[in-house]
Amino acid sequence: MAILSILEYPDKRLRNKALPVSEVDSNVRRIVDDMFETMYEQSNTVGLASIQVNIPLRILVMDISEDRSSPICVINPEIIAREGIQQEVEGCVSFPGVWDKVDRSAKICMRALDQNGKPYELNAEELLSVCIQHEMDHLDGVLFVDHLSRLKQTRLVKKLQKNRLRAVE
Ligand code: NI
Repeated sequence: MAILSILEYPDKRLRNKALPVSEVDSNVRRIVDDMFETMYEQSNTVGLASIQVNIPLRILVMDISEDRSSPICVINPEIIAREGIQQEVEGCVSFPGVWDKVDRSAKICMRALDQNGKPYELNAEELLSVCIQHEMDHLDGVLFVDHLSRLKQTRLVKKLQKNRLRAVE
């Protein structure tokens, strides 16, 4: 397994769109393992999308459990039902140290393939629902800041730049 490097905003590769996985083979399983290792290395990240590690295939890894013991592998995801609206504070490992509230569907039903290529459906609400929608956006080159007003986007990017200067000092 290997820890992959994570792209950070404003890297243009975060705008790439991911292609469907045609076959879940050993190469795909290795990517999934590397993505889990990369996600678990980050202390407070509940999800990671392949686009964030510059692999343009439709693959996500998630774990919303507190003890990080419930890995969820998501390949070629589709949302097949949505209900309601929720607004939660979101962050993103590609935007270190900044957060904001985003509107998302409250409850969703997702269909995907697991690490063995087996199809499954998952009903999700609250944090898991937010996580799936946030990570699926990445597969289409969409970032959580795209859901915010221009004013909020500008503020958030300024804060991100300030955090980086502080990190360099
Ligand atoms: Ni993200």
